[in-house]
Amino acid sequence: MTRTALDAVRRGVPPGVAELLDALLAEAERRDVAVHLVGGPVRDFLLGRALRDLDLIVEPRDGQSVDADGLARGVALADAEVVSHDRFGTVRIARGGAAIDVATVRRERYVQPGALPTVEPGSLDDDLRRRDFTVNALAIPLTTAARRGRPAVIDPEDGRGDLAAGVLRVFHPQSFHDDPTRALRAARLAVRLGFRLSRGSRSALRDAVAAGAFGGVSGERYRREIEKLFSDARLGLDPAAALRLLAEWHVLGALEPGLSLPPKARPALRRLGRAIAAPPIEDLRGEPWMAGLALWLADVDATSRRRTLRRLALRGDPAQRLTDFPKRRDRMLRQLARARGRGAVDAVLADASDEELLALLACAEPASRRRILRWANEDRRRRPPVTGNDLVAAGLSGPAVGAALSRIRLGWLDGTVRTRDEAIVLAREVAMRVARRSRSAARKPKQKRATRRASAALPETPASPILPPTPPPNRTLLPERQ
Ligand code: CTP
Repeated sequence: MTRTALDAVRRGVPPGVAELLDALLAEAERRDVAVHLVGGPVRDFLLGRALRDLDLIVEPRDGQSVDADGLARGVALADAEVVSHDRFGTVRIARGGAAIDVATVRRERYVQPGALPTVEPGSLDDDLRRRDFTVNALAIPLTTAARRGRPAVIDPEDGRGDLAAGVLRVFHPQSFHDDPTRALRAARLAVRLGFRLSRGSRSALRDAVAAGAFGGVSGERYRREIEKLFSDARLGLDPAAALRLLAEWHVLGALEPGLSLPPKARPALRRLGRAIAAPPIEDLRGEPWMAGLALWLADVDATSRRRTLRRLALRGDPAQRLTDFPKRRDRMLRQLARARGRGAVDAVLADASDEELLALLACAEPASRRRILRWANEDRRRRPPVTGNDLVAAGLSGPAVGAALSRIRLGWLDGTVRTRDEAIVLAREVAMRVARRSRSAARKPKQKRATRRASAALPETPASPILPPTPPPNRTLLPERQ
């Protein structure tokens, strides 16, 4: 690689990554080891796109015993940590939040379709040809030993031609058969780069679908690809477009019979993609893919949804949250549309996870969307002037504490409870009501009729100096303040 190209790569990555790269290349030069930049970063560099990660590869010459691990461990950089990455001997050098991945050239054989490949030592050419698409099978030699007798870009199958033509092309007709997850990678890359799958590759994919190759892949591997599909929205990928390609290629049905992309889910997925790229909520935690799967599967029939979750090896709490989402979505959207006042919006959204908020934002009407955003960015973190302990100190106990706290929060967000004293007065009223209700509930079984007569005779709750009587859930008596 020419000095200027290496400088361009260095400029394209965060300073911490550039420092790691310099340290690794210095060690490689010292030991006269060939190191190349490979795969996605070369593709993105040649396309003039931003680089995110650097993938490097070590190519030991005959008689050299060095590998990625050995080279990485020789790096003289204080605080650098070397972590063995996967069962293929890839290592990651990390330091202060920056990292680069380094592997040793290898050959792969697929003994069984869909299973992980058998890995053996190999040449640089083997390593490039084992990859999914020609545009990913490119290398740029970085060190003196790597450059010896080599062109500036190593390109065994005209990957640069395909880059220029905007085409994703597999190396051989068995490629999708060997590794069906490449179909999901193809959809992701096609949408992210604006590329199309070559005609020959489409036909290879059709054959793999027809041969049932997709059945041999573990749910975890598919799920990881789906996770990437949604997190790639950060790079401008529209998840709806990628899923649409997969539907068009009959890959969704091959993943799980009956699985589709309902047209109704598409606009919401598109909006979700934009929200992932530019989060409209501060400090949003949660997994984008959970929000994506929730929206996608909400409009799929319940049986296919259940089977898809099982196929993706989703169990326990995440599976339950995704199963419950359609009903929760419908309920929350209905209540949001009716909510009057900020306190009422708070009562609807209080137990929503960040993922649910993202998903709700993507499928709500504009007015409800504005309410969700205002709640998430402003009201969610507002704390009323009293805590549970304050209420206990004021003489409340048992269920009255929780009921009073909810009521105070509602009034606090609506602006009808403004001070600590007002909150305590309200808390005492709520406590009286709770006590009266539990007394009348205790009497009910034996003296149903007598109680009814007695309660008719009871004086009305004294009028609150602050608030009208407790409204039913999600309704306050004050108009919403926009
Ligand atoms: N690869 C493959 N088959 C797979 C997964 C990965 O051939 N099922 C190859 C690809 O050619 C890729 C390389 O392994 O270039 C590294 O994988 P990954 O880091 O996932 O790919 P990138 O292309 O770097 O993807 P991204 O740009 O999303 O980081």
